[in-house]
Amino acid sequence: MRRLDNDWEFTFRWSDAFGRGEGAAERVRLPHTVRQSPLHGAGPQDYETVCGYRRWVTVPAEAAGGRLFLQFDGAAHIAQVYVNGRKLAEHRCGYTGFRVEITDAAPAGERALVAVKLDCTENPAVPPFGFVIDYLTYGGLYRDVWLDVRPKKMISELFVHTPDLHTARVSCQAPGPVRYEILDDATGKIVARGEGEGQLDISVPDARPWSVQTPCLYRCRATLLCSGDVQQTVFGFRTAVFRADGFYLNGEKLFLRGLNRHQCYPYMGYAAPEALQREDARILKHELACNAVRTSHYPQSQYFLDECDRQGLLVLTEIPGWQHIGGEAWKEQTCENVRQMVLENRNHPSVILWGVRINESLDDTDFYARTNAIAHQLDPSRATTGIRYVEMGDVQEDVFAFNDFSHTGNNPGVRSRKEICADPDKAFLVTENNGHMFPTKSYDTWQRRQEHALRHARVMDGAMASGEHAGFFSWCMFDYPTHQDFGSGDRVCYHGVMDAFRNPKLAAAVYASQGEERPVLEVGSLSIGDYPGGDVGTVWVFTNAQQVRLYKNGEHAATLTDEHWQALPHGPMAVTDAAVGWWGGQAVCWRFDAVQDGKVVASVTKKPSARFHLQAAVSHRELTEGDTYDTAAVRLRLVDEYDNLASYVQIPVRFSLEGPGQLVGPDTAVLEGGCGGTYVRTAGAPGQITLTVTTDQTEPVTLRFTVRS
Ligand code: GAL
Repeated sequence: MRRLDNDWEFTFRWSDAFGRGEGAAERVRLPHTVRQSPLHGAGPQDYETVCGYRRWVTVPAEAAGGRLFLQFDGAAHIAQVYVNGRKLAEHRCGYTGFRVEITDAAPAGERALVAVKLDCTENPAVPPFGFVIDYLTYGGLYRDVWLDVRPKKMISELFVHTPDLHTARVSCQAPGPVRYEILDDATGKIVARGEGEGQLDISVPDARPWSVQTPCLYRCRATLLCSGDVQQTVFGFRTAVFRADGFYLNGEKLFLRGLNRHQCYPYMGYAAPEALQREDARILKHELACNAVRTSHYPQSQYFLDECDRQGLLVLTEIPGWQHIGGEAWKEQTCENVRQMVLENRNHPSVILWGVRINESLDDTDFYARTNAIAHQLDPSRATTGIRYVEMGDVQEDVFAFNDFSHTGNNPGVRSRKEICADPDKAFLVTENNGHMFPTKSYDTWQRRQEHALRHARVMDGAMASGEHAGFFSWCMFDYPTHQDFGSGDRVCYHGVMDAFRNPKLAAAVYASQGEERPVLEVGSLSIGDYPGGDVGTVWVFTNAQQVRLYKNGEHAATLTDEHWQALPHGPMAVTDAAVGWWGGQAVCWRFDAVQDGKVVASVTKKPSARFHLQAAVSHRELTEGDTYDTAAVRLRLVDEYDNLASYVQIPVRFSLEGPGQLVGPDTAVLEGGCGGTYVRTAGAPGQITLTVTTDQTEPVTLRFTVRS
């Protein structure tokens, strides 16, 4: 397939079938958001429009006699596709990809004008709209567009799943026999073959299983014998089964530890290119030590899922919707969304569960009988679920999923199955917790941020200890912009364990410290002025080490262990006698040494400080320019000389950029809670980009990027 991301003309208001708009057209590249939005106070006013995109497409001469398709990976929200002024298709979901056959409208060897009329309004006729929604829905051709030239006789809907760890069950739609080759995706070596029509079982005796620790990938290449048409997909040998007592990956019980992810980014809304999508999967797996993610509340980018496949991150993906069920046509569209979600995502080994109910909607037996049946029919290999916030009810899905917001600080972390679920034979999952129960900003007091972290720890501990839960997904990965009906007055939901730029809050350490990949040690504030009456109280330490040794002015003061928890692999450790109360005395130097097998693996020093410097974490410095642009994420933290976050320092940062790149967002921003970020985007040419970040209180930081084409 050929990418068609460059050379679009965009007009904020559509006016005719040739994609001409009102006012001058702007030249844009995809992924594209209709308008950049601010960090605070963004809203539908930024994106609600009926806009137009158009570009010329040269149809290759070799397309003659074959078939031609345009593939749109994501168009928010109602797209009408025109070729040379003729309307060919309408797609009514902003979150699923779709294909439009343009064979008859675009002759081979000629240029064709492709125009897209895109309704970015929150139109109540289509899901998720019709009531309030706690997230923004943006607008734009925000994923890739492709041109696919195929022979007249072709393959479609290639599907591979693995009923056991050594069998690839393959099928596709094709007018004749198909040859299947199974390749090791890492080496490209063919490991098995099969040939036939309809469904086929291909045995791969030496297959290496796909798991969260070793996400081995294979590739299935299908060739239609009569025309040579080739289709391929990546897959993995794995079984994913939910039973009443939990989740089993490859026959082994695995407790799901996950977060909910929205697909938005500062300034660019939904329109984040490949590298940023992949980066979120990497962060979830390697920085937050999650083994699972829920793509709340809609299907997300193929790049994100592809990276989940590569990293070994399990996915619950679901149809668009938020509490509201519309009329018959709306429901019909939801059924269509189930169909598209399953067809688009069923080859991903990472996907283990389909969400086929509108998030937090009430029972609707007929409707949900249909959505469950569609998912089961298109994919017999995976379980269905549906996310609820009302107890009991009619459990039509295979897995009972409940948003358990019961934890309020002084009570158990989760509710028991018998209180909520009428069916003891169903697997039982917490799909949200915390979130609006305890919104926490990066610049809130340490006490609040610590309590935020502890609430996540208590839910996690409760769910792991219950013996009933297959796992949990907490609300949520990062702070997100929302509608006026939600949020903190600035239309931001501060529900994340990270901020909008993916800078970790203290609660992120609860997740990170459950992993074994790298030593984790995070400590709250011990500055007496940060606490009422100077009473520091209990300070919690988040670590995955066996113990933490605490030194006061160099003298050993305490040894900490995680005895306070029932089931957490690495529970937070308490410093209960930190209430030193030396108000009026001299400041103390505290050192925390995390000790593993007798060795100090990480150390934190807490001491009053006034010298700050900026730390930058960059997603990648080698950028690719070509058939689309690339964007790198830059995360910033202001820290003291001991690398402790200066979370009350809110100072301006300035960004200046040289070379073939541009900033996404403003060139001056404010560090919030000592954290911030920006994005560097390529601008059409190779070369070196230099980004300089300055503040009035620190040395400048210079970041260099290389753009290759
Ligand atoms: C849930 C909802 C989420 C989010 C969350 C906040 O009810 O499903 O989208 O709004 O509450 O805690």
